[in-house]
Amino acid sequence: MSNDLPQKVTIIEVGPRDGLQNEKEFVPTEAKERFLQKLADSGCEEMEITSFVSPKWVPQMQDAAELLPKTPSDLKRAIVLVPNAKGYERALVSETQAVAFFVGVSETFNKRNINRTTAESMEAVIPLVKDAKERGLFVRACISTSFHCPYEGSIDPEATIRLCNQFIEAGVDELSVADTTGLATPLEVYTLFSKLKETTGDVLLTAHFHDTYKMGLANVWSALQAGVTRFDSSVGGLGGCPFAKGATGNVATEEVVFMLERMGIDTSISIAGLLLALEEVTPHLKRTIDTPPFF
Ligand code: HMG
Ligand code: MG
Repeated sequence: MSNDLPQKVTIIEVGPRDGLQNEKEFVPTEAKERFLQKLADSGCEEMEITSFVSPKWVPQMQDAAELLPKTPSDLKRAIVLVPNAKGYERALVSETQAVAFFVGVSETFNKRNINRTTAESMEAVIPLVKDAKERGLFVRACISTSFHCPYEGSIDPEATIRLCNQFIEAGVDELSVADTTGLATPLEVYTLFSKLKETTGDVLLTAHFHDTYKMGLANVWSALQAGVTRFDSSVGGLGGCPFAKGATGNVATEEVVFMLERMGIDTSISIAGLLLALEEVTPHLKRTIDTPPFF
């Protein structure tokens, strides 16, 4: 076990985007706006706000253009997901300052998620990355199915590293490397992130874990050991990709904060504040969200 743990970790709250996109019941835009504000009040400084995807594919995100201008103004980074040129144009019209492009290592997953092969997606997205950098935007690349694919099984880590390198060469600021299915083990996580740390240089490296098999916290710990200091998580463990069969929510922000703070690692996020934020959306979900007995 490494004694070399960081003093501070950055959490990127993905609840408003990854968290809500899989929810069937539409959460009213005003409730999303209050959710964003309370997440900001709890100390979340970087957030995925929404995505400019097809409303036919993901109806929950249909209010992206309406919601983005209502983002709390004091956030360090308000990120929106963009799958293609059309989404990018829509995001620019809404004056976004930070975009996240998303591509799957697995061809089958990418086809189901974006209706393109991985190569077709990259061909479309790389010029957009360059354009976004020229405009001075913050650019994040989300790498889906970095470990396992619900349709193809295990993914060759070298294929994930190659895709990451393509984005690095195009000039992204951040890579968010995702275990879409929640199947990655702490050993796989340690191995891949240790290798990525050797090649990412100044590019921010973020780990994105889904908690389908309850390995999310173990994987956070494992990535920490590999030197990762940025984590995507979702309040209440909300989330999941509608196009990744069987996958459930992200590792829960309040649980990540609890674990890290108890080890003396500063997250600057209040668990009480997170739970207040969660109350803004749970009445609309028609299901209960269990959280541990923190208080
Ligand atoms: P398509 O059907 O191939 O689109 O879908 P198309 O280019 O053929 O266009 C068809 C119609 O959609 C046209 O309209 C376009 O204008 C419109 P029409 O002429 O028929 O009226 N259209 C759009 N409208 C709004 N916004 C757009 C857009 N693009 C086209 N951006 C498409 C391709 C990419 C649009 C579709 O597959 C899509 O929206 N996919 C999004 C899937 C998604 O949101 N997945 C979840 C996010 S990724 C994720 O959760 C993983 C992550 O968390 C990491 C991890 O855990 O792995 C990031
Ligand atoms: Mg995800």
